Amino acid sequence: MALLISYSPPTAYISCSTSSSPSLLKNLKLPRFWPWQKVKIGPLSVSPMGFGTWAWGNQLLWGYQESMDDELQQIFNLAIESGINLFDTADSYGTGNILFLPIRQGNKQVKDNIVIATKFAAYPWRLTPNQFVDACKSSLDRVQLEQIGIGQLHWSTANYAPLQERALWDGLVAMYDKGLVRAVGVSNYGPKQLLKIHDYLKARGVPLCSAQVQFSLLSMGKDQMEIKNICDSLGIRVISYSPLGLGMLTGKYTSSNLPSGPRGLLFRQILPGLEPLLNSLKEIAQKRRKTISQVAINWCISKGTIPIPGVKSIKQAEENLGALGWQLNSDEMLQLEYAALESPRKMVQNIFQTRFMATVAWIFHNIKTSVSQATADGRLMLLERKKILFPT
Ligand SMILES: NC(=O)c1ccc[n+]([C@@H]2O[C@H](COP(=O)([O-])OP(=O)(O)OC[C@H]3O[C@@H](n4cnc5c(N)ncnc54)[C@H](OP(=O)(O)O)[C@@H]3O)[C@@H](O)[C@H]2O)c1
Repeated sequence: MALLISYSPPTAYISCSTSSSPSLLKNLKLPRFWPWQKVKIGPLSVSPMGFGTWAWGNQLLWGYQESMDDELQQIFNLAIESGINLFDTADSYGTGNILFLPIRQGNKQVKDNIVIATKFAAYPWRLTPNQFVDACKSSLDRVQLEQIGIGQLHWSTANYAPLQERALWDGLVAMYDKGLVRAVGVSNYGPKQLLKIHDYLKARGVPLCSAQVQFSLLSMGKDQMEIKNICDSLGIRVISYSPLGLGMLTGKYTSSNLPSGPRGLLFRQILPGLEPLLNSLKEIAQKRRKTISQVAINWCISKGTIPIPGVKSIKQAEENLGALGWQLNSDEMLQLEYAALESPRKMVQNIFQTRFMATVAWIFHNIKTSVSQATADGRLMLLERKKILFPT
């Protein structure tokens, strides 16, 4: 007798054979997570973890090269096969080629299940709701989908261009009303602005479904916790970005082994104080037979958020998928959080969230984009390949 149950995604099959019992165990392949562990974001049902794609197009911070595309494509395929259906991107990332190829190629099952969460940049020249709607149409064109899963406002301009902010909110409303996006979300919003946009959208009949926050054991301060509480009370799902602290929570970097580029400068400041946290991560990882990265990502899941770790290799993708299907217990969570509090320096937050830095960033951003515009051929993707640090 042979019994075969299969469904996809997430991939799961159990095959039984009466002829040889060892093959029973050998063939038993458990899914990364069970279908009932999928998470709701408004009307959408997504995997408990998504994949972030910032590193799939960014050169300065992440060292992206076109020669990486084959492996990135394999990562995307592995994610899909493993039941991951949430992919975070942005119209400033330049990830189009890799991410969207399989969708463009028209695999219906992939198309029907995938949830692309796109962040629309609050560029200074996007001043009207229609310009935001046009940005959404351009994304749909690149992605070759009829609807974006979650249309997210990448950052708030409230601190330096409040009039623009209202136009962008209206842009989100228009995208939703026209059926271009299935759900609406924000990114890099502080508690006050989050409440304001929630109320505004609600009054316009648009539910705010998600808030993307830098949320990790390196970024769990008062603001993050306040945002999380607000989201929980309003039914907004928190999506945790940079859950590995840009790589610091993988355990592979030390003060004498820093990544090249701007990350090295940041890590040099933070890593020396991270010993207690990294030791706790290691201790729990060893007890659980997991890796440090898996424990760090699982902390975000256990907090009730959806992490979207970035990956640059199949090995990293395989490893991070191992963060699924189990959960840290409350003692382990407390141990990690106490250890995290001992770290003297925290991650830098998005510069658009503080008034002074937002103004400086806005000026810098304008100068930079003017230069880029002068040299670009007008196509956003090319322009964005050159635009590295702003926004994160
Ligand atoms: N809304 C926003 O403003 C915003 C801002 C930032 C990020 N995001 C989103 O969040 C996603 C994830 O954040 P992130 O990419 O900034 O940082 P992250 O997920 O904290 O770190 C990702 C990096 O860590 C390293 N890594 C990942 N898994 C690893 C493993 N298992 N073992 C060893 N190293 C590993 C890789 O870089 P190396 O191999 O080079 O170390 C990878 O690129 C982004 O892709 C983006 O979609 C959004």
